Amino acid sequence: MHIFYGKASLMDYLKSIKTIHSTIGFVPTMGALHQGHLALMQKSLLENDTTVVSIFVNPTQFNNPEDLAKYPRTLDEDVKKLTNLNPNIILYAPTVEDIYDGKPVSESFDFDGLENQMEGKFRPGHFNGVGTIVKRLFEIIECTNAYFGEKDFQQLQIVKKMVAKNHLKVNVIGCPIYRESNDVAMSSRNERLSARERDEAAIIYKVLTAVKEQFATKSTAVISEWVQKSFGNNPHFTLEYFTIADEATLLSCTRKNKNKKYRAFIAVLVNNIRLIDTISLN
Ligand code: PAJ
Repeated sequence: MHIFYGKASLMDYLKSIKTIHSTIGFVPTMGALHQGHLALMQKSLLENDTTVVSIFVNPTQFNNPEDLAKYPRTLDEDVKKLTNLNPNIILYAPTVEDIYDGKPVSESFDFDGLENQMEGKFRPGHFNGVGTIVKRLFEIIECTNAYFGEKDFQQLQIVKKMVAKNHLKVNVIGCPIYRESNDVAMSSRNERLSARERDEAAIIYKVLTAVKEQFATKSTAVISEWVQKSFGNNPHFTLEYFTIADEATLLSCTRKNKNKKYRAFIAVLVNNIRLIDTISLN
């Protein structure tokens, strides 16, 4: 497998294999790869001539230093997983210096308010960091298609907004959430949970599926109250937010409009580890 640690050699290589009609699929990640990541890569491999994967724990998107320090870094295992999936994958695993040239700071973006909801409220500066790194990676890789998981639905909408506002020539493709056998959304952070916490985290998707059932007949206020209560009984889980929002604007839904698409979004703290999940409601 081709592995590049610096952007200059990666860009030279991509230039050398590029032809007029060839397509590049790109899957940005922060590593500690799991099946959810690999599913994005499988889609890219099917739909493009070349697939580039990046592994980079981006410091500017972490608002919490402990979360950054404890984020799993497992490059050797990741390389094995990528090689098993497909040895033709090109891996870009840059250093902070290679990406930020000594200045690991974010650009400031206007995502038309998408950045002020949910994760944006609880993780100040997070989406400026995500916008900065994704824009840089798009400029380096010049990909045709880029694959993002719906697990981070707000991130997906923000990346689409950034591409539209900056007139970037990239198709941003959203992919379904990949789940563990007990329906917990796969996440690199799950590795930090104890076996018991991992089992108990099944409550998150159970609550979301119950919300989906209730959505047709109950008000969002009644549903939200029920969700608060469901977590109130569990001492190990702290509900950070639960909201039902319009998929396009991410604004909370107070009165349902049958022409709009809605989603429920949830963030839960388990022993200081943040888990997020989402479900489409209509
Ligand atoms: P990371 O958390 O590593 O996720 C990389 C990609 O995998 C994201 O698009 C994410 O939504 C997707 N993903 C994660 N878990 C998934 C699951 N269970 N099912 C489907 N897709 C899943 O998201 C990031 O990294 C970073 O913010 C990044 C975009 C790389 C910028 O630094």
